[in-house]
Amino acid sequence: MSLQLEGKVAIVTGAGQGLGEGIVKRLAEAGCDVAVIDINLEKAEKVAEDVKVMGRRAVAIQADVTQWDQVQSMVDQTVEKLGKLDIAVNNAGVIKIKSVAESTAEDWDFVHNVNAKGVFLCCKAEQEPMKKQGFGRIINVSSIAGKVGFPDLSLYTSSKFAVVGFTFSLAKELQRTGITVNAICPGIIGTGMWCGPNGLADKWKNPGETMDESWKRHQDILIPQGEAQTPEDMGDLAVYFATSKHVTAQAINVDGGFTSA
Ligand SMILES: NC(=O)c1ccc[n+]([C@@H]2O[C@H](COP(=O)([O-])OP(=O)(O)OC[C@H]3O[C@@H](n4cnc5c(N)ncnc54)[C@H](O)[C@@H]3O)[C@@H](O)[C@H]2O)c1
Repeated sequence: MSLQLEGKVAIVTGAGQGLGEGIVKRLAEAGCDVAVIDINLEKAEKVAEDVKVMGRRAVAIQADVTQWDQVQSMVDQTVEKLGKLDIAVNNAGVIKIKSVAESTAEDWDFVHNVNAKGVFLCCKAEQEPMKKQGFGRIINVSSIAGKVGFPDLSLYTSSKFAVVGFTFSLAKELQRTGITVNAICPGIIGTGMWCGPNGLADKWKNPGETMDESWKRHQDILIPQGEAQTPEDMGDLAVYFATSKHVTAQAINVDGGFTSA
């Protein structure tokens, strides 16, 4: 792997596990120093230690992306400890698997606060040091659920559609600043959302089916390629966006062909 991003500093939110962890590892492999952000500090610290073992600088920072003061502080601490901010991957996200009839106003606020408001607050804070240096790469994590609807996921899909629209508009706001803004739309990955407790594979089990069988069946029926994507696949697209000057206002699917089937 060539060190295409040597000397760059990145923030990744929701980076204590899952996709965020895979994105951190790919950015570090490409040469980045990384601020590993999570609401769970212990998990962030473990991932930051792994980055240090890879020979890169890393800091673990606890931040809840729904809280403006914590988001502002995460950016300030990154600039203070790692010197600047070049790349931001806004990945933290949550899910509620419920029909609209079962969902409450609190469910809506919880999902939209993390997935949509969290992306807004992060982009608002991250763009400031990027504008000052005339360079930045903002990468928001949406979903295939930001492109098509799914039953039981109306709250989640609406938050992820919001991320795509927000990304396109912010890209236009920043188009003469040296900052690109793009979105990754992952397909299905065997992390917490699918394979964790109360994850999609569990909730969408057929009668008599184990979670593992449900997970295999969903890969087969949802993905034309027949297998799930990986956190590292998302990291590869993050590296691509981070190294591309003229790719902006895009929301690219990494979904084994799902959205074109
Ligand atoms: N797993 C999939 O199949 C899939 C598919 C499409 C999109 N995505 C998106 O990818 C992103 C990561 O998903 P994942 O599967 O890795 O999830 P995950 O549940 O495995 O990990 C999410 C991480 O985000 C952290 N987090 C949660 N709320 C936070 C908050 N308020 N502030 C800061 N950190 C917070 C959690 O502590 C956790 O470490 C999410 O935005 C999700 O919507 C996932």
